[in-house]
Amino acid sequence: MTASKKRVLFVCLGNICRSPTAEAVFTKLVQDAGLAHAFEIDSCGTGGWHAGELAHPETRKTALSRGIELTHRARQLKYSDFEEFDVLLAMDKKNLKDMVELAMEPEHREKIFLFRDFDTTGEKGEEMPDPYYTGEFDLVFDLCERAGRGLLAHLRDRQ
Ligand code: 4NP
Repeated sequence: MTASKKRVLFVCLGNICRSPTAEAVFTKLVQDAGLAHAFEIDSCGTGGWHAGELAHPETRKTALSRGIELTHRARQLKYSDFEEFDVLLAMDKKNLKDMVELAMEPEHREKIFLFRDFDTTGEKGEEMPDPYYTGEFDLVFDLCERAGRGLLAHLRDRQ
């Protein structure tokens, strides 16, 4: 890794289920790889209804059962995020569409990816299910681990 930090932003709808899980899981993977100094990692939502809140109680409970405490406070995606972050990961195609619409500039749009496209064990174009509606909190944690591993390998290779 070079001296410049890689800035990674995970984005979902409410920022209380999927993206805070992805943020925390990816942070743990980065720490375990001894690369904490090389990354800045955050999450947000395209919607602002839950701004300032901790993650959903079931999301926090699931993460804690896997040894990760979620302390993130929800915030809404803002235009400057496209300038401040190098890679923005959408949890589903609606998030992706909303992000592309907000981004406007071509160089900003080039930073936006579907998170699960980095899962080397999966198909391209898969979405992260929303446990707020499906109740699949454990599955989301597992999928975040798989996609997070692939994302870390991808970003390491590009340094
Ligand atoms: P998330 O899930 O996008 O994974 O945080 C949701 C959380 C809250 C709502 C929708 C999705 N909501 O409509 O309040």
